[in-house]
Amino acid sequence: MGTPVPEVDIDLFAAASLRDPFADYARLRDAGPVVRLARPEVYALGRFAPVQAALRAADALISGEGVGFSAAFNAPKGMNVLQSDGDLHQRLRAAVTKPLTPARLSKARADFKEMVATRVKALAGQGWFDAMRDLAPFLPVQAISHLVGLPEVGRDRMLEWAAAAFNAIGPMQDPADVGSLRDAFAFLSTLSPDKVADGSWAAELFGAAESGRLTMQEAMAAISAYVIPSLDTTILAKGHLLANLARHPEQWAMLRENPKLIPAAVLEGVRHSSVLRWFSRVAVADYAVEDMVIPQGARVMLLYGCANRDERRYADPDSFDITRDSRDHLAWGTGPHMCAGMNLARLEMEVLVEALVEQGVTLTLGESEMGSNAGLYGHTSLMLRLD
Ligand code: HEM
Repeated sequence: MGTPVPEVDIDLFAAASLRDPFADYARLRDAGPVVRLARPEVYALGRFAPVQAALRAADALISGEGVGFSAAFNAPKGMNVLQSDGDLHQRLRAAVTKPLTPARLSKARADFKEMVATRVKALAGQGWFDAMRDLAPFLPVQAISHLVGLPEVGRDRMLEWAAAAFNAIGPMQDPADVGSLRDAFAFLSTLSPDKVADGSWAAELFGAAESGRLTMQEAMAAISAYVIPSLDTTILAKGHLLANLARHPEQWAMLRENPKLIPAAVLEGVRHSSVLRWFSRVAVADYAVEDMVIPQGARVMLLYGCANRDERRYADPDSFDITRDSRDHLAWGTGPHMCAGMNLARLEMEVLVEALVEQGVTLTLGESEMGSNAGLYGHTSLMLRLD
């Protein structure tokens, strides 16, 4: 039977916890390697080693029963890279990741850099601006939505759909989010090869369907994998990175002196302030976590951001330290479902910091506000000056 799994009375979906979850995360980690939550009624893993092991145990803890807590998000099962397992997952993932390899992305690097550098120049010396409105979304909205190649109406609503989808993964449903999700699926179902931009990622996937390498349904599923997770995640991650760099002038000075540290600073940024809070799995057999057992059929919450602050793995985990080796962080997950877009996310964050370093600015932080999206941790506003 094993040691009983401790129950903890923590509401991770209370607004205050969503805005600042780290005290609750510490309590959850201290309570045990696995705990039971009451709201919602699930098992939860928050320590680094059990979360890492669970993400790699994809045969025992499956994604095909949905990775959220709500029927609204888990419903469209079957053709969904995030919420599938085994061969189907591998086929969909191979299609989704094609344009996202470092080699393919390196071709876009110079253009991205120039675009973001122009933006940084325009903001430098101009006084306060809201980085969540004027800087962090710039590349995703200007460049990534075009690379995906959706018709204009889809591009205009990608941000709204992403926020709605990540909020809808939680246990409580806002009818507005459910409506947005329905619109997103309705829009996606109208896509066809003649409606997407030539040479775009979506066109490439339709091409693969036309040549028989994918079914049309698989191509549509792969296209939808760009729509929901590609924008908000990177926008919020950039907000955290800017805030952390502004809060630590000594580390900003270190980066300006040694730009080779930029990739490490990006990884430390996503470890320290992980955007994706959690996804879940279903145990298809009893699953052991140290001397405790999660029973077959149970839903298991995997807390990426909590694991990344585990003092059992990282010394002084609450501090932001660009000299730390954060390469094994779990902000992008690990195992077969590890983020398909992490190379793009890294690239976007690296060129932003490079542009700031090259512009030689100091960063000053003003007022900021955190959001309470059930799936994503990040700022709704972040006042910044570049001088
Ligand atoms: C900082 C930015 C990002 C973060 C923190 C992030 C986080 C994650 C995480 C934690 C997972 C693992 C899901 C799981 O364990 O079930 C994931 C999967 C995924 N991400 Fe990202 N992501 C980011 C950016 C992106 C971008 C830019 C794209 C697309 C271009 C993307 C596309 C995907 C897809 C398609 C999956 C599903 C992969 C699969 O199930 O095999 N993500 N992401």
